[in-house]
Amino acid sequence: MTGLSDPILPGPGGTDYERYLRTDELLALQKTPADMAHRDELLFQTIHQASELWMKLACFEVETAIADLHADRLGSATRLLRRAVTALDQVHNATMMLEQLAPWDYHRVRSQLGHGSGFDSPGFRRIHEITPPLEQAFTALLTRCSVSLRDLYRERDSHAELFELAERLMDWDQRLVVWRHLHLKLVERVIGGQVIGTQGTPVEVLARRLDLRYFQALWDVRNALTEEAGTSPKGP
Ligand code: HEM
Repeated sequence: MTGLSDPILPGPGGTDYERYLRTDELLALQKTPADMAHRDELLFQTIHQASELWMKLACFEVETAIADLHADRLGSATRLLRRAVTALDQVHNATMMLEQLAPWDYHRVRSQLGHGSGFDSPGFRRIHEITPPLEQAFTALLTRCSVSLRDLYRERDSHAELFELAERLMDWDQRLVVWRHLHLKLVERVIGGQVIGTQGTPVEVLARRLDLRYFQALWDVRNALTEEAGTSPKGP
């Protein structure tokens, strides 16, 4: 007779936990100590691999959220966007953990990276592919609802669902901007700000890309509201 701790799922692994999560394969994806040039390669690989998984999840949720927006399913889109934002928070935490990598140790890790560069991160590439369609789906929704951003933000109780959605889109955009700042400071801390990356990109180039925003209209409406409220002296 099969006991409750006996595996019933197909596949390799001694337990259903290992079979379902495919832990044998997952835990074989990092270098063994014998193959490492420096022991911190495990830290470096774990952080990048885990981040790719979180971004895979985030993009999966955003893709469904885009379809939801086109079908006027605001509640579902907002819920999935919240989850996608939480996934980006995990990437933030993981990125900051690399602050524990000492500069000289990193150069031993770096000697193993070839031409590997974050520019080729599938997760970040996908984020940059799916965010413009997310913005377009939101803009089209506002048009269908005949609501301006100014009215949405002035009369948020009359547009409660749309307001929640807009705020989750702000979360997404802000997380992406903040991540670039975190990453740049990490890079300056580990290799310095006046050097060249593994694909030949000067670190200063990262500084020029810091403020890329996808939901500019959501940022701009804040300026318009402040002006309308009359609580701030006129800016430049
Ligand atoms: C020791 C830590 C790190 C260093 C020294 C570093 C260094 C760099 C450098 C120099 C670049 C410029 C491109 C090039 O490689 O030539 C870059 C780009 C990039 N890195 Fe990192 N990085 C680190 C950690 C991370 C982490 C943890 C992630 C993701 C979780 C990441 C993701 C990226 C991405 C997405 C880009 C492209 C940025 C953009 O499109 O503006 N990096 N990194």
